[in-house]
Order: sequence, then C-alpha cells, then structure tokens
Amino acid sequence: MSRKFAVILIAMVVAVAFVGTLTYAVAGTPPETVLIDKAKNKKPGVEFPHKVHAEKFECKDCHHTAKIPDEAESCFNCHGKLPDIPDPGEMSTKKNPFHILCKTCHSDLKKAGKETGPTKCKECHS
Ligand code: HEC
Ligand code: HEC
Ligand code: HEC
Ligand code: HEC
Repeated sequence: MSRKFAVILIAMVVAVAFVGTLTYAVAGTPPETVLIDKAKNKKPGVEFPHKVHAEKFECKDCHHTAKIPDEAESCFNCHGKLPDIPDPGEMSTKKNPFHILCKTCHSDLKKAGKETGPTKCKECHS
C-alpha cells in the first residue's frame, strides 16, 4: 500500500466516524421545548416543555418503544400512521395518545396533591 493511499484511507475512516457520531448525537438530543401540532385541526397545537419533563422522568416513560434513550423518536413516526393504535387526531381522552399519556399523568398527580401540569383543554391548546 502506498503511503499516499494509506493517508487517504485513514482520512476517509475518520470522516465516516465523525459523521456517524454527529448523527448519533443529534438523534438522541432531547429538545428544550417541542410544538406538538402535526395533528392540528380543531384545536391549536400544544407547546410541550420537553426539558422540564426529561429531567423529572425517564425517557422510556413516554418514548415507550425506545429501549435506550438514543432510540427516542417522534411519536408521529407511528401514531397517526399505523392503524389500530391511538391517533393524535382524535379528540377522545381514550383514543388520543397524548390525552392518554399527558392528561392521565397530570390528573393522577393532581389527585395525589403533587406538583403537576395542565389538565384543562385551553391550558394545553393555546
Ligand atoms: C395535557 C395536554 C392536553 C390537554 C389537557 C388536552 N389536550 Fe387535546 N391534544 C393534546 C396534544 C399534545 C394533541 C396533539 C396535537 C397535535 O398533534 O396537533 C391533542 C390533540 C387534540 C385534538 C386532535 C387534533 C385537532 O386539533 O383536532 C383535539 C380535537 C383535542 N386535542 C381536543 C382537546 C379537548 C377538547 C380537550 C379538553 C377536554 C383537550 N384536548 C385537552 C394535548 C392536550
Ligand atoms: C413526559 C414525556 C417525555 C419524556 C419523559 C421524554 N420525552 Fe422526548 N419527547 C416527548 C414528546 C411528546 C415529544 C414530541 C414528539 C413528536 O413531536 O412527535 C418528544 C420529542 C423528543 C425528541 C425529538 C424527536 C423528533 O424526531 O422530533 C427527542 C430526540 C427526544 N424526545 C428524546 C428524549 C430523551 C433522550 C428523553 C430522556 C432523557 C426524553 N425524550 C424524555 C415526550 C417525552
Ligand atoms: C415505533 C412506533 C411507536 C412510537 C415511536 C411511539 N409509539 Fe406509542 N404505541 C405504538 C404501538 C404499536 C402502540 C399499541 C401497542 C402498545 O400499547 O404498545 C402504542 C400505544 C401507545 C399508547 C397507548 C397505551 C395504552 O395504555 O393504551 C400511548 C399513550 C402511546 N403509545 C403514546 C406514545 C407517545 C406519547 C409517543 C412519543 C413520545 C409514542 N407513543 C411513540 C407505537 C409507537
Ligand atoms: C409522567 C408524568 C407526566 C407526563 C407523562 C406529562 N407530564 Fe406535563 N408535567 C408533569 C409535571 C410533574 C409537571 C410540573 C413540572 C414543573 O412545573 O416543574 C408538568 C408540567 C407541564 C406543563 C407546565 C410546565 C410549566 O413550565 O409550567 C405543561 C405545559 C405540560 N406539563 C405539558 C405536557 C404534555 C403536552 C405532555 C404530553 C406530551 C405531558 N405534559 C406529559 C408531569 C407529566
């Protein structure tokens, strides 16, 4: 192997490794706040303070298909796409994945007299 070729080869390996790390980091970095509005129709989208929640709870409490934090992905990759699972476009408390997850936790904490988040429509959809 010529020396020049070896140098190019090493440079390529380093470049690939670097890009790999970059994508990896971006995929797993939790956002500060997220505007959840991909199903927006009858109600305004919902401003979700992600960081506040990610500091208090485990990633998999919400990203229930992620075995490790870096696998956390958008709920909309499945919800609203796959049939027969809770749909973000539904109004019902029992059929909307966010109403099931978000409202249930907030209501349970409220009942327990603990610090909690909004449970009324307008407090989320504003
Ligand atoms: C804890 C926060 C929260 C509360 C409280 C809440 N929602 Fe939602 N709701 C959401 C989120 C998040 C979505 C998904 C929004 C999106 O993707 O656009 C959603 C979606 C919806 C949708 C389907 C999307 C659309 O715009 O048509 C309707 C309808 C809806 N909610 C109505 C209500 C009503 C009525 C109440 C009160 C009885 C309520 N929500 C309370 C968070 C909440
Ligand atoms: C209380 C629930 C909750 C917790 C806890 C939580 N997340 Fe999230 N996360 C969400 C929701 C809801 C979204 C917005 C999803 C969407 O728009 O589809 C989101 C979005 C994300 C996104 C952006 C996804 C995309 O492609 O748009 C990443 C990355 C992420 N979370 C990583 C994490 C990690 C890592 C942790 C743990 C340190 C964590 N989350 C904890 C609920 C949560
Ligand atoms: C890779 C696909 C996928 C992703 C990503 C995903 N889900 Fe799900 N979710 C499912 C499937 C499939 C089901 C139905 C089977 C089950 O309960 O596991 C489901 C069920 C649910 C349920 C109903 C559980 C019950 O007790 O009835 C809720 C709530 C939910 N998801 C919320 C979320 C939220 C919020 C996010 C994003 C933070 C999310 N999901 C991300 C695939 C996904
Ligand atoms: C496992 C329990 C749990 C889940 C799930 C959860 N929350 Fe919360 N939420 C909390 C708690 C606890 C607080 C109070 C945190 C604080 O003020 O420090 C809170 C606070 C909030 C606040 C007010 C933040 C502020 O700065 O005043 C909003 C808005 C909110 N949640 C929206 C949501 C939405 C939207 C979802 C679903 C995508 C969600 N939450 C899911 C427990 C939860």
